[in-house]
Amino acid sequence: MRVYLDNAATTPLDPEVLEAMLPYLHNHFGNPSSIHYFGRETRAAIERARKQVASLFNVSPGEIFFTSGGTEANNMALQCSVRDLGVKHIITSPIEHHAVTHTVEALEKEGKIKLSFVKLHADGSVDYEDLERLLAATQEKTLVSLMHANNEIGILLDIERVSALVQTYQAYFHCDTVQTIGHYKLDLKKIKIHFISCAGHKFHGPKGTGFIYVNSEAHIKPLIHGGAQERNMRAGTENLYGIIGLAKALEICYSHLEEHEAYIRTLRDYMKQKISEEIPGIGFNSQDDGLYTVLNVKFPPNPKSELFLFNLDIAGIAASGGSACSSGSNVGSHVIAHLNNEPDSVAVRFSFSKFNTKEEIDFVVEKLKEMVPVVV
Ligand SMILES: Cc1ncc(COP(=O)(O)O)c(C=O)c1O
Repeated sequence: MRVYLDNAATTPLDPEVLEAMLPYLHNHFGNPSSIHYFGRETRAAIERARKQVASLFNVSPGEIFFTSGGTEANNMALQCSVRDLGVKHIITSPIEHHAVTHTVEALEKEGKIKLSFVKLHADGSVDYEDLERLLAATQEKTLVSLMHANNEIGILLDIERVSALVQTYQAYFHCDTVQTIGHYKLDLKKIKIHFISCAGHKFHGPKGTGFIYVNSEAHIKPLIHGGAQERNMRAGTENLYGIIGLAKALEICYSHLEEHEAYIRTLRDYMKQKISEEIPGIGFNSQDDGLYTVLNVKFPPNPKSELFLFNLDIAGIAASGGSACSSGSNVGSHVIAHLNNEPDSVAVRFSFSKFNTKEEIDFVVEKLKEMVPVVV
């Protein structure tokens, strides 16, 4: 048996999504920029997908730009704000995804911005009073970039509170929503955010797809030049079938949101309860009220720590030590390193989807029971 519990890294494609994509891999292949029939029909399909996506977030289709994924969307939000909106100061957290931290560090190194890191509580949550202090103390145009849910420990941001603070201090707000899109509803008419980022493969859509929402008040210019696609905002022939798949995947997620959430929560809570009862000495880096797709388990220190994920893989269990880039290795989790309450413990992120089953969880628990005493 092989069990896939690394859904925060990526998810399997939903068969219904594949169905929706297939016609655009076979018959409808025209270049959406072509003015003949073949191009017009694929252009219309992309615009239908954009409308569908926009309606799910209660925004205008003109505010949605398809990208290659979350990394590109994050880069666009950060780099374009600095270049086009006069942003001179970025406030972020030390536990953002590298698509944010590496980008802001590069901007700082180039001398384009001052970089501030907000303080975090022991569980990884943002210290909102510190965020307000940082915003109040700045004279320069500021962008706050904070993720909705942390991809490793699942801690959630109070986006309404951050949105209100950002408006009080007339700053911009970018929220990396890569881990929450498809799992939480977001009404952007009710909560003002200037930029959100999305990656289609995190909710059973295809890889290499995503979008950035850019609030119509944020007048940014393109990052990629060379064509008039995406209303001049993102050059390059569109990932047609990817865009169709992303829109279909989102539609499925939001039409079954409560049902999927309840199911996934039950699996996660069941696994937490079982391992708490059956495996001595474990703790958790994730919270019950955090991202419901993630359970980050702190295993006791052991001499074979680095081999733990490897051994899990041999036992047929796919999990992760941190973000996708460190899947299969326990090295380099800047998030766990920052929390750092027990540096020798082994952090393993198990992340769930609607395709997992209770039988799979039972299998994983049995394997963990066999493995943990061996390595302790
Ligand atoms: C929170 C977060 N942001 C950004 C990304 C990057 O997304 P992608 O790899 O699709 O570009 C990820 C992917 O792991 C993520 O979890």
